[in-house]
Amino acid sequence: MALRKVLDMEHYEKELRRKSRTVEKFDQRLASLLDDMAETMYAAPGVGLAAPQVGILRKAVVIDVGEGLVELVNPQILRTEGEREWTEGCLSVPGYWGLTKRPEKVWVRAQNRNGEWFEKEGEDMFGLAMIHEIEHLDGILYVDHVIGGLQPDKADEEE
Ligand code: CO
Repeated sequence: MALRKVLDMEHYEKELRRKSRTVEKFDQRLASLLDDMAETMYAAPGVGLAAPQVGILRKAVVIDVGEGLVELVNPQILRTEGEREWTEGCLSVPGYWGLTKRPEKVWVRAQNRNGEWFEKEGEDMFGLAMIHEIEHLDGILYVDHVIGGLQPDKADEEE
């Protein structure tokens, strides 16, 4: 496993705005990418990471909101329910957070690292993470939805 560099908006806005391609090969290269992404996410630390954030334009994300590691390959949002406000952040927009309005609940279909399809239901932090990371695959960032502008991180201010 290896740490990968997380691209940030300031230097890589163009890359982060590109659409990722479908994963077609469920091989060792994909497994290594997912392993590296998980390691990079935990080291950050963060609760989710999408492949384009490490410069790989492939539809792969990793999430761990404290309930164990979830890998989503070629994920699609099947449907959503409800709406609520969240405070959201992103490893590609370090030092900031913002308020967003997001669905309360989401149903996702995805493949695992072996290519097997499964469905995942998510609410609260996990649902939010799935939506946030899947949007990265379409070049969308939470800053596009932010209500009232980005807020600087309090922890950073105090440093
Ligand atoms: Co993000």
